[in-house]
Amino acid sequence: MPPAGTLELLTAPHAPVLGWSSYFGDDAASSPCIWDAPQLRPTSSGRAAIALALEAFGICPGDRVLVPTYHCATMVAPIAALGAEPVFFPIHPTGAPVLAVLDRLLDDRTRAIIAPHYFGLPTPMAELRQFCDARRLCLIEDCAHTFFGLSDLRPIGSWGDYAIASLPKFFPVAEGGCLASWRHELFPRQLHPRRLVEEARALANALESGARYGRLPGANALIKAAFALNARVRRGSATLQPDAGQASDLDVATLLSEFRADAIAFSRPTTVSWLLARHHGRQRLVGQRRRNYQALAELLEGCPNARLLRPELPEAAVPYVLPLQVDNPERYYQRIRATGVSLYRWDRVRWPGVPDFPEDVGAVWSQQIFQLSVHQDLDAADIGRIARTIRTILSSSDP
Ligand SMILES: Cc1ncc(COP(=O)(O)O)c(C=O)c1O
Repeated sequence: MPPAGTLELLTAPHAPVLGWSSYFGDDAASSPCIWDAPQLRPTSSGRAAIALALEAFGICPGDRVLVPTYHCATMVAPIAALGAEPVFFPIHPTGAPVLAVLDRLLDDRTRAIIAPHYFGLPTPMAELRQFCDARRLCLIEDCAHTFFGLSDLRPIGSWGDYAIASLPKFFPVAEGGCLASWRHELFPRQLHPRRLVEEARALANALESGARYGRLPGANALIKAAFALNARVRRGSATLQPDAGQASDLDVATLLSEFRADAIAFSRPTTVSWLLARHHGRQRLVGQRRRNYQALAELLEGCPNARLLRPELPEAAVPYVLPLQVDNPERYYQRIRATGVSLYRWDRVRWPGVPDFPEDVGAVWSQQIFQLSVHQDLDAADIGRIARTIRTILSSSDP
């Protein structure tokens, strides 16, 4: 271990990595999840699934769709791309909407609400479901962060008229999502098929990152040698880096362009990505994410200039990230990222023009919540290094 106060450069993967152990000998049984939905359609991303859910419900230009003040812009872009109006609502510290304000925001053009489960820690949904039923609102349950688990004793995704999910946040793939429903038949539009070269690239990327992190015993050396040779021949590798599924640097215009009729949003995911996600074992994924969350929470307890937003991991939750609330976030954010820690914040991917509400935590969360990855391909040593790095930076008195 380096002396206290020394910064380590971290080389752990930022996102799940392909490994034999996730496909062979792993148990598929534990933890309810989106795959259990009676109606399920593959999509190219979580945002594409939101677009298809809005379309399936018949949202038209001029309709209004409610979205939380604490959001990733990818949740809002599908609404604007349809010509509908995003209307922002405040949230409680549980992540649930402030229903009294929601009620005031409604008019006869308001037809749907997007309600996320943040960080992989389920948001209560029973009361919101009743609210939507009483007002004939379509509930789109955003499970991009929360693929597994229970909310108010029911499987995640089953409260919504539609549920959407994002595959790279939980599985070793660079793209893909799905639209699911426990309540309605899904007849979304026909999606464009993917080209063979895209399938080949998806497979190559998954194999390359699996071999790079030594997760494919028996084949690691061979795959690494093949990619090194290919890179030398092509003078530089053209492979994608896994990105933990976070749209960290997307601007509004780029996001909107993804929803043109011929654009990627209306394609299927590659079959390779879909199959890698669909057949991934659950037991190791669930266990390792829970262990990583609990270990990181313990190691960051009492950290200067920061507080754990949810020190206790709810039973049956399968976390995506650990949310850490940091004072003076501007001072620390880039410094932590520069060390290689997989860390995200939603300030730069917020939609412009979000109003302030006195009873809202969303505005503060957008600035102060650091989302720290706890994916299944980080081990105890990685978590230890991440915690030491964050503590060192948050304890420093450098300006
Ligand atoms: C809560 C939430 N919903 C939806 C999305 C969109 O998912 P995707 O990146 O797969 O389009 C994201 C992306 O980060 C997200 O964080």
